[in-house]
Amino acid sequence: MTERVIPLLDERVAAARPPLPWVLETPTGHLADTLRRPLRDLRISVTDRCNFRCTYCMPREIFDKDYRFLPHGDLLSFEEIVRLARIFIHHGVEKIRLTGGEPLLRKDIERLIEMLARLTTRSGAPLDLTLTTNGSILARKARALRDAGLRRVTVSLDALDDTTFRQMNDADFPVADVLEGIESAAAAGLAPIKVNMVVKRGVNDGQILPMARYFHGSGHVLRFIEFMDVGSSNGWRMDDVLPSAELPRRIGEELPLEPIEANYHGEVAERWRYRDGGGEIGVISSVTQAFCGDCTRARLSTEGKLYLCLFAQSGHDLRALLRGAASDAQISTALAHIWRRRGDRYSEIRSAHTVRLRKIEMSYIGG
Ligand code: GTP
Ligand code: 5AD
Ligand code: SF4
Ligand code: SF4
Repeated sequence: MTERVIPLLDERVAAARPPLPWVLETPTGHLADTLRRPLRDLRISVTDRCNFRCTYCMPREIFDKDYRFLPHGDLLSFEEIVRLARIFIHHGVEKIRLTGGEPLLRKDIERLIEMLARLTTRSGAPLDLTLTTNGSILARKARALRDAGLRRVTVSLDALDDTTFRQMNDADFPVADVLEGIESAAAAGLAPIKVNMVVKRGVNDGQILPMARYFHGSGHVLRFIEFMDVGSSNGWRMDDVLPSAELPRRIGEELPLEPIEANYHGEVAERWRYRDGGGEIGVISSVTQAFCGDCTRARLSTEGKLYLCLFAQSGHDLRALLRGAASDAQISTALAHIWRRRGDRYSEIRSAHTVRLRKIEMSYIGG
């Protein structure tokens, strides 16, 4: 009998309670970390559960029936999430992305969206409120999400070929239902829709052209993402990474492309436009061309821990402050202290050594 390895993913508990500040500060919206990066983008994970078992994210050998997901009482309530969101906004956050696991599995997610949609940025503009989903129940939910105030969605889809897709999601889920979800989201006005394809060499790189052809002229933006060494369970190897820089060349041979400017400072995707007016694609080269220099993203886990990097090994337990009767001003000042000390730039310093470190899982913290 082979011995069963149980890598308890206890990065979940590696989070220190931030000290309560003595002197309170008024947020200015201009926080800067040690690399002078502001705080603009907050990603909130609303569940660590998912109905897929994508091999690069939640390999079934680990996320099996014995895996202990977070108990309900550990999750931040919607009221706690909104309270923290307001504090982040005072510090300059303008975009909130809900993630998971699969965020549409969180009960009454529409109610949270309604609550967040009422918030505005410091300048009084509406928040850029969006969500990343695997699309499996999007067809059912799109209208209600839009009605609740969600502005747009990003849908993950790794292949058009049904066999390849079923293998990658390892839940035998068909492509057709995700495509239906995308169309329902478009019909509900959740646009522009971005479609994220994680490319694994030798697994779905044969799907690059079929995906490009399918979404060409659809109005949706297909983005190719390099397979990353997030977490410590997906068996990442550099050999599995297909450098995205190659893709515009490959696709361009059939559907000519030209580069275009970023939509905003710090955008992770490099944008390319079809010369025939068929829309645009994006390439996200998180491994081969790190973009840490402009990283303005903070991540809040389902149980209220703040992580300053997708590859973090430890976090900051904001829930302990929320539930320990800290005031908004105390939490806000504690957050300012945390952000000012931030120096994370994992993708720039990735090495054979860092790849082996125990890092938080993507299914726990979201994309
Ligand atoms: P919008 O421009 O708001 O639509 O979103 P985005 O471009 O930030 O993209 P999205 O949130 O969909 O992220 C796409 C993928 O890029 C994620 O699934 C990750 O694989 C990768 N990614 C996003 N943010 C980071 C980051 O901070 N670090 C790294 N290394 N990868 C990231
Ligand atoms: N590398 C790159 N992207 C990943 N995602 C999940 N795991 C990885 C990984 N190891 C992406 C998913 C989805 C988002 C939530 O993160 O495809 O688009
Ligand atoms: Fe679920 Fe998304 Fe992870 Fe796939 S990548 S297992 S859909 S959270
Ligand atoms: Fe930001 Fe960390 Fe990603 Fe670099 S690796 S872009 S610091 S989240």
